[in-house]
Parts: sequence; C-alpha cells; structure tokens
Amino acid sequence: MADSELTLARTGGVPLSRIVYTAEQIADCVRDMGRQITEAIPEGEEILVLGLLKGSFIFLSDLVREITRPVQVDFLVASSYGSGTTSSGQVKLLYDPDAEFKGKHVILVEDIVDSGTTLNRLIPMLEEREPRSLEICALLHKHIAANLVREARWVGFDAPHEFLIGYGLDHSEKYRNLPFIGSL
Ligand code: IMP
Ligand code: MG
Repeated sequence: MADSELTLARTGGVPLSRIVYTAEQIADCVRDMGRQITEAIPEGEEILVLGLLKGSFIFLSDLVREITRPVQVDFLVASSYGSGTTSSGQVKLLYDPDAEFKGKHVILVEDIVDSGTTLNRLIPMLEEREPRSLEICALLHKHIAANLVREARWVGFDAPHEFLIGYGLDHSEKYRNLPFIGSL
C-alpha cells in the first residue's frame, strides 16, 4: 500500500490537511530528547518518568528507550478536554499513581502544551509530594500559554497553532495510531 493509502486506512478515509512532523523527524527528535535527559540527571540518582495519559503513551514509550539509565515509569490520567478541539479549563484526575516521589527526579511527560491548564493544575499537586526535582518534558509546545507555573525543560517541537493529531494525539479518541503528526 502507498503511504497515502495507509494514512487513509488509519484515519478511516478522512484526509489530513497536512503532515506536520514525519515519523523520521519525530524519531530523531525523541532520540535527542532522551540523550538530553540522560545527560541532565546525575548517574545513580533515581528517575521517575510520569506519563500523562492518554496522549503521551506513544511518545513516552519511545522516549524511555532513549534514556540510557534505569528509570521507573508510571502514569497519571488527567482529563481536560471533552470531545471538542478547545480546552474546557477543567482538569480531572482519573488515575493517580501510588509511586513514591521523595528523593526522585520526576519527569512529567506531556504530549502537547496548549493552554497550559493541565500543567498549571498538576504541578502544584505534584510538588506537594516532595520530589527531588520535578521537570516537564513535552513533545510539542504551542507557546500560547501566558502564565505557566513552570516552563517545560525539554520541548521537542514548537508546534503550529493548529489542531494536531497522531503519535498519541487524538481528536475525539481517534487518530492516535498515526505514526506521524498531522493537522486536521
Ligand atoms: P492544555 O491543558 O490546554 O495545555 O492542553 C493539554 C492537553 O490537551 C494535551 O495533553 C492534549 O491531550 C490536549 N491537546 C492540546 N492541544 C491539542 C492538539 O492540538 N491536538 C490534540 N490534543 C491536544
Ligand atoms: Mg494529553
């Protein structure tokens, strides 16, 4: 099957307006981010990679394989979106890990920073658990959030102000399985 046919098969026939980041560009970027994280955390210190589900699941699984250190992995489920394409401003914690934060470098992995609402609600809650450090690693950043309580330390791509899908990102729970990132 040609690439375009494969894409249409995965989107259920819905054509994308364009491919924003190819699978190759994403792989290069994630490899680089993994290397930066590996270099940033001193050897022998504990790392807890905390993925924000669901959007980060593909990014996180690729990222942890590029971190050449022992890491602990856990997830957090926070929901800020309904089925639309704009943020509702509400953040609900649907799953909270029981992983110990004390003494660990906690890396919160987010697929995309948009309005910043999710991170602004989560960061103070996670800080209360007294991690050794708490940093944000985001694959994409739209740079539209005006008052982020904490800026992401690692950002893969400065994303266009469009609604993006693929590589974990969804629209109404679809398109997460696209191997690249596209614009709807
Ligand atoms: P924020 O709270 O507005 O920063 O939004 C964060 C969450 O909204 C992300 O983790 C995504 O799940 C979702 N989101 C934001 N922008 C997009 C997008 O362009 N495509 C898909 N999901 C998005
Ligand atoms: Mg998300």
